[in-house]
Amino acid sequence: MSIAVQCKVVCKVFGAGPGAVTALKDVDLAVTDDEFVTLVGASGCGKSTLLRTIAGIEGHSTGEILVGGVPVRGPGVDRAMVFQNYSLYPWLTVKENIKFTRQLAAHTRDRSSTDVEVAAGRAEALLSVMGLTVVAGSYPNQLSGGMQQRVAIARALMSRPRILLMDEPFGALDAQTREVMHDLILHVSRLEHCTVIFVTHDVEEAIYLGQRVVLMAPRPGRVDTVYAVPLPKERNQSMKHNGAFLELKSQILERIRSTSGMKTDLELLQRLSRTTTEV
Ligand SMILES: Nc1ncnc2c1ncn2[C@@H]1O[C@H](COP(=O)(O)OP(=O)(O)O)[C@@H](O)[C@H]1O
Ligand SMILES: [Mg+2]
Repeated sequence: MSIAVQCKVVCKVFGAGPGAVTALKDVDLAVTDDEFVTLVGASGCGKSTLLRTIAGIEGHSTGEILVGGVPVRGPGVDRAMVFQNYSLYPWLTVKENIKFTRQLAAHTRDRSSTDVEVAAGRAEALLSVMGLTVVAGSYPNQLSGGMQQRVAIARALMSRPRILLMDEPFGALDAQTREVMHDLILHVSRLEHCTVIFVTHDVEEAIYLGQRVVLMAPRPGRVDTVYAVPLPKERNQSMKHNGAFLELKSQILERIRSTSGMKTDLELLQRLSRTTTEV
């Protein structure tokens, strides 16, 4: 298995002087081709920053990030990002939204007719695999949140990225829609042979989707523990009730509590409430 993404002692500091924030400290992480890795951790532990530096949207301060063995110097068509807010163009139809970024990525106005045909074929295939064919001519505001996010994913896949970077993409969706999206993204990422790095603060989501769960901790943002998920690659919803799943979930939740300062806060709160009752 070759390595798709490698972070070597990556540090990212925002600002300077006493107000500087170390968002990432000495992050070492290697993600293999076709792997689905989830990043989980308390708010502020650097999950989005790590994803953005891999995407090349944000520069890292020190260390090295390699994608396919090549150092990241900025964004590239080999990587695509999907955010929580669907960021679709409201004035374009579903199909136009999917095709539009490819036109931008190609940086060309005079593309050959073959290019246009290939793009049209690719868009049709993505509409079909994402279950969007019937709404191809609709506008984003006519669709549910789940459908809009399907369009955003299809658009991200349009340029055949090697790596899909997803930052809490299902955070705004209701529980039932999220379950459907989970199975859809697992299916599509396998079909497209994409390496996925998926950020979430939902531990259950992280385990269900990930072959490995990377737990990050805050102040400074860092990788705390990497867990191998003891489930077959093919997932189904009933696995969420399986003993190994539940055991890993409570192990990760406990670790988040103890690394995020939450546990100390809770103990302090309990002590305070005892004192108040005694008075
Ligand atoms: N553009 C920025 N300028 C200054 N500080 C930032 C910026 N982006 C993120 N941070 C800080 O870096 C830390 C990590 O943030 P972030 O990566 O967004 O965490 P997460 O996604 O895990 O919630 C936080 O303390 C946050 O306030
Ligand atoms: Mg974030």
